[in-house]
Amino acid sequence: MTPRKRVAILISGRGSNMAALIAAAQADDYPAEIVGVLSNRAAAEGLGIAAAAGVATRALAQSRFPDRASMDAAITEQLEAWNAEIVCLAGFMRILTPEFVDRWLGRMINIHPSLLPLFKGLEPHAQALAAGASEHGCSVHFVTHGMDEGPVILQARVPVLPEDNSETLAARVLAEEHRLYPKALAMLARGEVSFQRPAHHGN
Ligand code: GRF
Repeated sequence: MTPRKRVAILISGRGSNMAALIAAAQADDYPAEIVGVLSNRAAAEGLGIAAAAGVATRALAQSRFPDRASMDAAITEQLEAWNAEIVCLAGFMRILTPEFVDRWLGRMINIHPSLLPLFKGLEPHAQALAAGASEHGCSVHFVTHGMDEGPVILQARVPVLPEDNSETLAARVLAEEHRLYPKALAMLARGEVSFQRPAHHGN
């Protein structure tokens, strides 16, 4: 069997998608292993869940660094210490520097709770309701320079019901997120999807 890809997860809070990835990676035939979880908030609930599952954890606070670039460099240093080959953002509430994005381009993916390119950014469920959408969902995509941009790997759809509010809609989407993210990570780890820097990038 080919070696499993080494995956690090970046979180900021609850960590339910992180937990879904850790659970999926416990299966013998899953093509990736979770080698570390890093949070930019020491109080993130997900850190305790990861530690309880036997996964290495690290918290790094922006307040300890003079600027965004030096914190991102420290994140990369930790990811390299774990020998991470793939980075999964899972509720990581932080804008990444272009240098960090370039460092992990094609090897860093994110989950966003909307059918991208619809409803990027904050409060996508409220955005979907305000737009009168009849359908909503979630997307796993490669991370590129724009927020919630980058080629979509997989999406899952849910109906929007007449009685929905942001919370009921978020819960219906979240259940799909927990199925979708492990599937998308497996596809990347097996090399079934890829993303490369466009040829003219940087001109
Ligand atoms: C999820 O809805 C994810 O799609 C979004 O932030 C939320 C994080 O939830 N990016 P959790 O920390 O994975 O429970």
